[in-house]
Amino acid sequence: MSAQNSAPGPLKQSVRRVKKSVAKGWKSLKERISIPYLNRMTSQERVGIVYRVPSEMSIEERLFLFAFIRGTRPQRVLEIGSRHGGSAAIISCAMEDNGRGQVIGIDPGPDITVKKSLFHGRFHLISRPSPEAIPEAYQVANGFFDLVFIDGLHTHRQCAADLAGSLPYLADGGYVLFHDAFHLGVSESIRQALESDPRLHDCGYMCVRPYTDEPLLSYRGLRMLRFASSAVANPEPLIEAGYREVGLNPPVPHPDLLDHDGWYCRHFEPCPHCRAEKAALVSSKR
Ligand SMILES: C[S@@+](CC[C@H](N)C(=O)[O-])C[C@H]1O[C@@H](n2cnc3c(N)ncnc32)[C@H](O)[C@@H]1O
Repeated sequence: MSAQNSAPGPLKQSVRRVKKSVAKGWKSLKERISIPYLNRMTSQERVGIVYRVPSEMSIEERLFLFAFIRGTRPQRVLEIGSRHGGSAAIISCAMEDNGRGQVIGIDPGPDITVKKSLFHGRFHLISRPSPEAIPEAYQVANGFFDLVFIDGLHTHRQCAADLAGSLPYLADGGYVLFHDAFHLGVSESIRQALESDPRLHDCGYMCVRPYTDEPLLSYRGLRMLRFASSAVANPEPLIEAGYREVGLNPPVPHPDLLDHDGWYCRHFEPCPHCRAEKAALVSSKR
């Protein structure tokens, strides 16, 4: 049978076109319907929480905090300074989106005004001061913290005590995030800790817009430290955990894959791995 004879007729072609366009329309409709409603706190994406809660954090700081929790998927967070529960609600909502995690807040004088439902059962408050209450928070969390968020009393003395008191309860590879890191006392305590503890690594300022209405010293600024025995982060345990979580075996690292990129190898130049794979396929067919 010639190629011309097997070509579909005009009717078949139009039916195919219609089917294709219906499928495309249905796909785009499904995509539109499934876009989460960010302000509904029962939705699958609750990022709208950043506009709803009382907090002295700027919008970009709130967005960063939310995204950081979504991205790093912590199991346990310690919050030093909870006041009205604003940042705790942001963390809790991001954890709810992740489907895991709990945040333990410590504050000697909390005044929680955020609706309880916005914590999604993930926030536990201890009404005692840091650093004394940190061991109790660790007991409640039942494990090392993946993140300590320090936003308590903004003095050099207290911030240094918050940080020193938290480190024994921080997981290897965990983070410390400071709010109001532009405060003179806060930034000085961070500088001193970095100088004296080689396990602390400076990740710099995540949010850089200072609060400028205070003439004496500045506030705001989110600063991050990483607490780890090695300064270089190892991606392998994270990749492994991600694959295992969805029931798959993680890929095995191989030097031939260093220059592999699926798209580039397909369209431009195959890498050593792709070349070897193709050669093996050809010889198996012989
Ligand atoms: C800036 S507010 C926290 C705001 C909260 N992180 C937010 O953004 O929604 C500071 C809080 O730190 C609390 N605080 C003061 N001294 C503290 C301490 N030693 N330990 C823990 N919290 C402390 C205060 O009671 C106050 O509620």
